[in-house]
Amino acid sequence: MTANKLKAVRGMHDILPVNSGNWARMEAVIARVFSSYAYREIRMPIVEPTALFSRSIGEVTDIIEKEMYTFEDRNGESMSLRPEGTAGCVRACIEHSLLDTPRKLWYAGPMFRYERPQKGRQRQFHQVGAEAFGWQGAEIEAEMLLLNQRLWCELQLENGIRLQLNNIGSSESRKKFRAALLDYLEKYRDDLDADSQRRLQSNPLRILDSKDRDTQKILHDAPLLTDFVDDESRQKHDTLLGLLQDSGVSVEQNSRLVRGLDYYNDTVFEWVSDDLGAQATVCGGGRYDGLVEQLGGKPVPAVGFAMGLERLYMLLEGQGFACFHEDDAPDAYLLVADSAYQRYALDLAERLRAALPGFAIMQHLAAGSLKSQFKRADKSGARFALIVGEQEVADNSVSVKDLQSGEQSSVSVGDGIAALLVQLSADT
Ligand code: HAM
Repeated sequence: MTANKLKAVRGMHDILPVNSGNWARMEAVIARVFSSYAYREIRMPIVEPTALFSRSIGEVTDIIEKEMYTFEDRNGESMSLRPEGTAGCVRACIEHSLLDTPRKLWYAGPMFRYERPQKGRQRQFHQVGAEAFGWQGAEIEAEMLLLNQRLWCELQLENGIRLQLNNIGSSESRKKFRAALLDYLEKYRDDLDADSQRRLQSNPLRILDSKDRDTQKILHDAPLLTDFVDDESRQKHDTLLGLLQDSGVSVEQNSRLVRGLDYYNDTVFEWVSDDLGAQATVCGGGRYDGLVEQLGGKPVPAVGFAMGLERLYMLLEGQGFACFHEDDAPDAYLLVADSAYQRYALDLAERLRAALPGFAIMQHLAAGSLKSQFKRADKSGARFALIVGEQEVADNSVSVKDLQSGEQSSVSVGDGIAALLVQLSADT
């Protein structure tokens, strides 16, 4: 009897060694950009009490209604796998009193949503997110969007990603708008798609996101949220638009953009790409001034965003990872003419690594003729072959062959090691 083959859960994927190098490079660029804006990393648990998410994301959102992985733990308490990072980040900040001063935080990790899997949509996916607490003015939004833009530039994706921006106003404005929208949509109740009919009761604003053609037609003449936004929000929006214009960030205003989470007020934004198919949003976020207080903290203004790493990776794949200049090749391949010289070679490699951090040396640790080792060296893609033989051990030296030009020289290891390193590093 053969055992059934075990498979990964639908919508949850392995990141295999062929891709993990580029994943790590993508994450390293992101971490570097965050740190250049003085964001510090925070790591939260993957499991949180279910109530944290329902109280922040909103009871009648898709995420809470039908997408959470929720279970009872052995103590009978309701727990959920995090569908996003903002709620946990705010919880951690309140719990550890991190919000007495303004603070910029970022996080990365897996998130879980029980959605129908398709290209760019998974049940376990990865987000990198950032949250800035304690800044009231539009400058923080502008800086955050500049950070996003800088990241797209560093990843050479700036031509394919567009920024959509809206101001959804205060919760009072949205209440008034909700009533007007309901009034309007009730007249067309029977012509709406099934999902939108259901949302009439629960969350009519989300009907604006409907992709159904007939519903879209009905929405064409629906009241606009922008007309209900008060003067204060309008002013904030104009200030932000001015800052972005001065900083050279192009903006598409999208008055239908509402986002799928309830905690936002005023600014909301999404970075979208035409190269991703239906799941076009790479990064989304906005302001959420009420959430910290809603979860038990003092009132603290806040803004944040999160990007989907699978979608970002797909875009990078599409441009052939042109932004990554490094590859997996070692810098040098260390060949040993006879296994008797391995000790000398091990010591040499250690000294090189200590003196030149980041210089990758692959030492040939198995037996084999010099000819076969040279073949390996070529195949590894290393720029240099370092050769240790009888002569080198006798006069405390190493032979360096540039595998591109074919030039070879012998360098003394004692005094000459610095010269060797300088030569190697200058050439690479
Ligand atoms: P979100 O729009 O729900 O926002 O998710 C942010 C990004 O995560 C999306 O734009 C998308 O790239 C990615 N994403 C979401 N769901 C999936 C999925 N099923 N498969 C693949 N990628 C996905 C938030 O999560 C907010 N917490 C963002 C935020 C932070 N707002 C303020 N601070």
